[in-house]
Amino acid sequence: MSKTWSELYRNSYQEVSNNLKSINGIAVGFNTNVDAIYHMRSDVIVDMINKLGIDSVALYKKVVKWKGIIEDPEDYIAGLCGCFEKGKASEWIIQNEETYNYLLENLPGERTLRMGGQVGIMANVLSELGIPKVIVHTSTLPKELKSLFVKNKNLVIPIHDKNGNITFTQPRKVKSIDDSLFLHIISEIDKGDGIKLGNIKWICPRNNRFIATFDPPNAKLDINLSFSDGINDIAKLTDVLIISGFHMLNSNELGIEGVKERIKAVLDLIQQAKQANPLLIVHLELSSTKNEMILRELFNLSRKDEYLDSLGCNEVELAEVLNVIGESNLSKSISQEPTQTKFLQGYLKICQKLSLKRLHFHQYGSYVLLTKNGYLVSNEKLKQALCYASIITAYKALTGETKKKIDLDTNFDLQRLNSRLTKSFKEIAAALDKENIIMKEEFLLKGITQYDDYNLIVIPTVNVSKPKYTVGLGDTVSSTTLAAEIALR
Ligand code: GLC
Repeated sequence: MSKTWSELYRNSYQEVSNNLKSINGIAVGFNTNVDAIYHMRSDVIVDMINKLGIDSVALYKKVVKWKGIIEDPEDYIAGLCGCFEKGKASEWIIQNEETYNYLLENLPGERTLRMGGQVGIMANVLSELGIPKVIVHTSTLPKELKSLFVKNKNLVIPIHDKNGNITFTQPRKVKSIDDSLFLHIISEIDKGDGIKLGNIKWICPRNNRFIATFDPPNAKLDINLSFSDGINDIAKLTDVLIISGFHMLNSNELGIEGVKERIKAVLDLIQQAKQANPLLIVHLELSSTKNEMILRELFNLSRKDEYLDSLGCNEVELAEVLNVIGESNLSKSISQEPTQTKFLQGYLKICQKLSLKRLHFHQYGSYVLLTKNGYLVSNEKLKQALCYASIITAYKALTGETKKKIDLDTNFDLQRLNSRLTKSFKEIAAALDKENIIMKEEFLLKGITQYDDYNLIVIPTVNVSKPKYTVGLGDTVSSTTLAAEIALR
C-alpha cells in the first residue's frame, strides 16, 4: 500500500530534517537587494490614479499593451493594474531615477524592508534550514541589507583578506562592499480585491505582486572579485551553485555585446567551478523578464556547453523561455490560455532543447520536477524533497519566516491533502491520462510517472489562503527542494 499524501508529508519532513547536515554546502549568486514591500489595496490604487490624473480608458489601453518597462509613474500604475487584473506576477525595470524617487516618495502606506533578490532570499532560507555552508554573492552591502542577512555563522561571503587570500566572512561583518542602497518596490495585492473605474471593473484573482526595480549595481551583473577569484574554493565547498539575476541586466546601457559579455563571464565562472568540482550541480533560477534579447542570448550561449544542469521557473517564466528557444507558438498559446497539457509539453521542450538534467516548476497547488532518466536522485526521494520544500514554503507564506523546526499539526491541516487534492494537481493527472501516459487515479496516488525520456514527479502543495507576502515563495521552494534532494541523495 502506498502512503497517503499526509503520511508522505510527515515522513518526508522528518527524513529531510534528519539529513540536511549531510550536505557540504550551497553557493548562490548574484542578485541580492533590499525589497520595500507595500500592501496596495484597491482604494489606495484608485487614489493614486486620481492623483496622477490618469484617464481610465488610457489606463485600460496601457494594461492591454503591457509595456514591460516603467518610464513614468503612469507605467507603474499600468503594470500594477495588469498584475491585479490578470493575477500574474511581474517585474518591470524603472528606466530613470526620477520615477524611482517619485514612487518612493509618493507610494502611500507603510513599507516593510525585507531581504530581496533570488539570491538574498535563497541564502537566508538555506542558512535558516541549517545547511552547513551557504556562500552568498552580493553586489552591494548597505547597512539596511546587512541587517537583513540572518545572523547565522553558516552564511558567508567570500572576501580577500589583507594578504590577498580568500576568507569567508559573515555578511554582517563585511566592510569592503559597495554600500549604495536601491530599494526594489514590491506591491503586494490581495485576491478578491476589486478596482472600479468608470466602466472598468477588475477583480484580483490571486494573491500576487508587482515589482518595480531601479538598481544600477545589479543591472551590471558585476561579479565581486573575491567571488570570482575564490570560485575554486567555493566549488569545492559546495554541492550546488544556484545562479540568477540576468533579468536585471540593463540592455540599453550595455548593448547586445555588453549583455553577451556579462553572460559569458558567468558561464566562464561556471566552467571553472565545474572543473574544480565535477559533481557540482548548476541551477539557474529564472525571474520574469520582458527583455527577450537577454533570455535569447542567455540560452544561446549556455547551450554551447554543459553549463546548466537544472532550471527553476513558474508559468510566466516557462512561456518566456519557450519563446526564445524556437517554441514561440507553444509560448503564445500558454500565455493566452494556460493548461497543464501545454505546460507538460513545455517542460519537455525546455529539457530537450537546453539538454537539462532537471527542471523544477512551481505553480499554485502543485510543484513539479522533471528529471532525465538516470538522474542521481531516485524519484521517491525527489518526491520527499518536494514535500519537505512545500512545508517550508507554506510556513513562510503563513508567517513570512523560515523555520527549521515546524510543528506540522498546529500550522497545517495535512489530512486535508488526502481528501481534497489541489486543482492543478488533479488537472495534471487528467492531462497525463488523456495522453495515455498513466491512469489518472494511479497518478493521483503516486505523483510519479515516466514521461518520454524523463521522470515526472508532482506533488499537491500545502496551500495557504492568506499569505503574508507572496514575493520570494518561488525562490524558497526551489532552493529548498534542491537542498532536500542533496540531503537525501
Ligand atoms: C527579483 C526582484 C527582487 C525580488 C525577487 C523575488 O529578483 O528583483 O526584488 O525579491 O525577484 O523573487
